[in-house]
Amino acid sequence: MRLDPINLYDYEERAKLALPHDDWDTIDAGAMDMFTTRRNRTAFEELTLRPRFLRDTGERDLSTTMLGNELSMPVFVCPAGSHHRAHPEGEVATARGASMSNTLMMLSTGSNCSMEEVAEEATSPLFFQLYHRGYDLTEMLVRRAEEAGFKAITLTVDTPAPSPKERDLRNRYNRNFEQGNFRGVNKPENVLRGTDESVGWNVNRTVPLSWQELEWLRGLTGLPLVLKGIRTAEDAHIAAESGVDGVLVSTHGGRQLDMTMGAIEMVPEVVDAVKGNCEVYVDSGVRRGSDVVKALALGAKAVGIGRPLFWGLAVNGAEGVHGVLELLREEVDRAMAYCGQTSVQDLEPNLVNVPQGWGAPPQPDF
Ligand SMILES: Cc1cc2nc3c(=O)[nH]c(=O)nc-3n(C[C@H](O)[C@H](O)[C@H](O)COP(=O)(O)O)c2cc1C
Repeated sequence: MRLDPINLYDYEERAKLALPHDDWDTIDAGAMDMFTTRRNRTAFEELTLRPRFLRDTGERDLSTTMLGNELSMPVFVCPAGSHHRAHPEGEVATARGASMSNTLMMLSTGSNCSMEEVAEEATSPLFFQLYHRGYDLTEMLVRRAEEAGFKAITLTVDTPAPSPKERDLRNRYNRNFEQGNFRGVNKPENVLRGTDESVGWNVNRTVPLSWQELEWLRGLTGLPLVLKGIRTAEDAHIAAESGVDGVLVSTHGGRQLDMTMGAIEMVPEVVDAVKGNCEVYVDSGVRRGSDVVKALALGAKAVGIGRPLFWGLAVNGAEGVHGVLELLREEVDRAMAYCGQTSVQDLEPNLVNVPQGWGAPPQPDF
């Protein structure tokens, strides 16, 4: 008899057994030496908790908000292309799983189901993750997202050039799944596909948006704007000055640029730089409820999971995604009790020991 998964690593192991080798590789891979992918984890492990006892923690509240949208816990589902890699129902199943847990999902531009299909299924808030695909396509995507009821646009900024995974190149991985958001759009494949949905170098080379062009993007929609992939105090400062509503500190799971710090290491300087003028979230390497508590104690408002959503999908579709989220919920709740905390919105910064030397080199005056 096999036990139900008791942590996210159980889901990981089962997903690896369930998926074809090359599909597993493309989900699991990081860029180049995977240094950043590993560092995302080791950085979390360098942070240690400071438990507090003899406090009344009988009632613990895990609920929070992201840009005013209510979530039952401070964990959301990251945007990721091609969920058909893990399950035939794709993003529709993921949305169902996130909705069962009453939490937010970010839907990738590179989804296999269309944003309208996903919006139809979701009962929890959705943000639309945007890859700039040139002015006309970006405008089309943003207008459709607004129309379909998405609550914000998350612009991914950390993919200025293709970054094929070496494992994909070695496997000659060539499964190109449907691009649900581009049905009927008559453009070459390499314009529609980005580095997360295609293998090799022949992917979208649209010049990325610049800070100056954010004005143009904001002019297309009244929806709030989140920038995904910000990792330095310098960029966080410009983002907040530009009136951006949120920044998602992320290394893209270490899948784009190798040899950077882990995402959690950048949270303190980003939180410092935005001076409370926008919300800060983090993803990359989150695998335990204690990671969530650490991130929130450092000033993040919510935390995203990427690869684990694929593990849940591969193991058991929507139920699997829900299962992954519920395991994290239990672990967050337990860590809160041990840290003497009753609300995730109110975590004390002194809950974690931050290693000496963390943070950016001395900053010039902004
Ligand atoms: C297979 C895969 C596809 C991804 N596709 C996208 C994408 O389309 N857009 C995006 O902004 N991030 C994408 N990401 C990155 C995730 O949003 C997230 O930043 C990352 O997975 C978090 O790290 P973790 O996998 O360690 O949890 C993708 C990640 C994976 C694993």
